[in-house]
Amino acid sequence: MSIPVLTIDGPSGAGKGTISWAVAKKLGWNYLDSGAIYRALAIAVLDQGAGLDDEAEIAKIAKQMQLSFECNEELTVLLGGEDISSRLGSEETGAVASKIAALPEVRKVLLQKQRDFKQQPGLVADGRDMGTVVFPDARYKVFLTADAATRAKRRYKQLIEKGIDANLTQITHDIEERDRRDRERSVAPLEMAENAHYIDSSNKSIVAVINEVFDFID
Ligand code: C5P
Repeated sequence: MSIPVLTIDGPSGAGKGTISWAVAKKLGWNYLDSGAIYRALAIAVLDQGAGLDDEAEIAKIAKQMQLSFECNEELTVLLGGEDISSRLGSEETGAVASKIAALPEVRKVLLQKQRDFKQQPGLVADGRDMGTVVFPDARYKVFLTADAATRAKRRYKQLIEKGIDANLTQITHDIEERDRRDRERSVAPLEMAENAHYIDSSNKSIVAVINEVFDFID
């Protein structure tokens, strides 16, 4: 029997993580946070002191990294057995992730690691290129976005709640910079898959967006 996949792509701060996690939990499906893979690689690269444009070296680190995910109450990410979950969300990690994510060799290495998440009874995959490149045959595709100001405010709130010092002007700038890089890169740029269902979450509650996703996949 074919394994159903729901892809949820979109820019930073659109709510993909929250929505994908909730939908996966409700369906009892597996969950792939592909951004966490790029973020974990960013941490490995920073820890090993590799140059951010050293494509061959970063691809090698990507090949060798021992990454595992535990989905319980929340997502726990282990890199070489060490819990790196608390380091994943920082702005620095996100910025480095977005730089190394533009390297074609690196994306090639990570492709199979992401496809391995496709297991019974189904998969919700969250990212930028889930519906376009990683799972082009996915049964359901959603493109989730929100205007930049809303996304920056959400991101700011998230950081403050985690006790991380944050500055809204700086975050707005960082989000716009990251979006630009994600949209303009030559490989697997952020774009809506042809047959995706478009949701703008700017003025919608989390519950409203979850309901819209369920209406779509019903
Ligand atoms: O989604 P998140 O903000 O955690 O992703 C961090 C970065 O990883 C993104 O800005 C993007 O550059 C990269 N990424 C990607 N492809 C994905 C998921 C994330 O290039 N499927």
